[in-house]
Amino acid sequence: MLVRQVNFERMPEHIAIIMDGNGRWAAQRHLPRVEGHRAGIDAVRDTVETAARLGIKVLTLYAFSIENWKRPAAEISTLMMLLKRYLRSELKTLLTNDIRFRVIGRMDDLADDIQDELRAAMNRTADDTGMLFNIALNYGGRAEIVDAARLAIEAGIRPDDLDEQKFSSFLYTAGQPDPDLLIRTSGEMRVSNYLLWQIAYAEIYVTETLWPDFRRRHLLEAVLAYQKRERRYGGINIARAK
Ligand code: IPE
Ligand code: IPE
Ligand code: MG
Repeated sequence: MLVRQVNFERMPEHIAIIMDGNGRWAAQRHLPRVEGHRAGIDAVRDTVETAARLGIKVLTLYAFSIENWKRPAAEISTLMMLLKRYLRSELKTLLTNDIRFRVIGRMDDLADDIQDELRAAMNRTADDTGMLFNIALNYGGRAEIVDAARLAIEAGIRPDDLDEQKFSSFLYTAGQPDPDLLIRTSGEMRVSNYLLWQIAYAEIYVTETLWPDFRRRHLLEAVLAYQKRERRYGGINIARAK
């Protein structure tokens, strides 16, 4: 049992995941790409529930990047349809597990019906006090930094008053701890414009597993790998330096 090996004193507070490999999962089965996205929903469900049960404080899933608009219109509309369906079918589970749902990204550029669905889920779960579940939608790390700079200017922040902590308070993730663990599925060694500011000191874990195959066991394996890492934040390990 993998969960027995987990050290609950050393849990990552915030886990961020780049859910990648849906297209390849479908291609391996000679199916259209959208079938990979459809299958990916089960992985989302499993991951959200497992993370909540493990007591993770924040889980952030990358569902759609600003750059993903480059994809064929039919693929994009299926992704949006699946998102809507997921929200409708999972709202009850989110509420039962006391999970608070939030969207990070340029939500205003999404279709009105999607925005309505997202707002409904955010409002219904607003008072939940358990895990915070961020979904990154129409999200770009650079766009987020630009948006934060705009907000800081609008708020009349003077150059001398701006520091890293202040700047963070204008990001989409204001008030949240930075990711401790960044997971990417399907083996790609890149961050693809994800949480650029926040992952400054995140531990990176890349697995060959394709997103639709990702389950509780894979999340536990990532957490166990994380717990073996030595985090330094630019300093030295005091125990070893002696
Ligand atoms: C990730 O899977 C899902 C989204 C980006 C929405 P991909 O669709 O990127 O799958 P691959 O990378 O082509 O296999
Ligand atoms: C990153 O995956 C975006 C999401 C998971 C939503 P991509 O598949 O879009 O990233 P690249 O194109 O391989 O860098
Ligand atoms: Mg991909």
